[in-house]
Amino acid sequence: MKLKKNLVAATMLAGSMTALSFLSAGAAQAQGALVMYCGVQEEWCRAMVTAFERETGIKVSMTRKSAGEVFAQVKAEAANPRADIWWGGTGDPHMQAAEEGLTVEYTSPRMSELQDWAVRQWEQSKKRTVGIYSGALGFGYNTELAKSNNAGELKCWADLLKPELKDEVQVADPNSSGTAYTLLASIVQIMGEDKGFEYLKALHKNVNQYTKSGAAPAKAMAQGETTAGIAFMHDIVTMVVDKAPVKVVAPCEGTGYEIGSMSIIKGAKNMESAQKFYDWALSADAQKLGAEAKSYQVPSNKSTPIPPQAPKMTDIKLINFDFAKYGSSEERKRLLSKWDNEVKNLPK
Ligand code: G6P
Repeated sequence: MKLKKNLVAATMLAGSMTALSFLSAGAAQAQGALVMYCGVQEEWCRAMVTAFERETGIKVSMTRKSAGEVFAQVKAEAANPRADIWWGGTGDPHMQAAEEGLTVEYTSPRMSELQDWAVRQWEQSKKRTVGIYSGALGFGYNTELAKSNNAGELKCWADLLKPELKDEVQVADPNSSGTAYTLLASIVQIMGEDKGFEYLKALHKNVNQYTKSGAAPAKAMAQGETTAGIAFMHDIVTMVVDKAPVKVVAPCEGTGYEIGSMSIIKGAKNMESAQKFYDWALSADAQKLGAEAKSYQVPSNKSTPIPPQAPKMTDIKLINFDFAKYGSSEERKRLLSKWDNEVKNLPK
């Protein structure tokens, strides 16, 4: 009898719990939903989702992907878009998407809070993408492995060609990764196209793997899987903060940088939520979440403090990166197919 009573109580409890979860799902639906493609490190993506959901009650479905992969997906889905907002990742595929009409114009009331470089990105894309952070490209090396390989100190792009580094350099594939496309575009701008491609071909001999994501070489270096790795300097700083025996290098010849960007997808099914997220993501408070998630880029909101760990832009020899040219559809396609034909498939 007692058992039966307990059973009845348990059934009632389960019933009311189902009703409760049904109610809360309904409430979330009433607040709207948001589908987001996220282009930064997974930890930062998740922190943004949690904070935005908490603040607005809007339920976010997020997928992390590399910059070139998001571009390809957004393009493939153009007739029936799945995503509403594309947040983060290097600016070049955001620029290409803007030019190809895959994203829409938007003017946030927060534009006046942003750094000039973030606004310039928005102007150059005809209001279709905006800068959310910036960061310089560089490389790093595992000091213990460099010692055992007799690689000496590494300071310049040229040092990555040392024979001691045969199969000891890791970098991503520029087709999938915005980091690696930034390398390709930077080398061409620093050395000129012919010399730049000669450099990339010589580097190919030392590359052990072209990874899919841009920050993977930083992790591999920290774990002692490769001596050197090319990545954004802030991604390598994260490894140093986590106590890996890794040195961060701002290459002596100069280097390029990214303007991490955000765009609203054309035909977004949750347009209102996308605009809400866009405005919120430009706020000083939302931009503080980066450093909390150990992502040390320079934020685009002028009131967000630059994390003390962020590589000092003034100490780095930065080139005058031509974002309009290297983010244009024609130039990006041309350089990527040239890299595929002349570098990627070269025998070692
Ligand atoms: C990392 C960096 C970002 C960069 C992104 C590009 O997440 O922290 O600053 O925008 O890589 O990713 P990808 O995988 O496309 O190179």
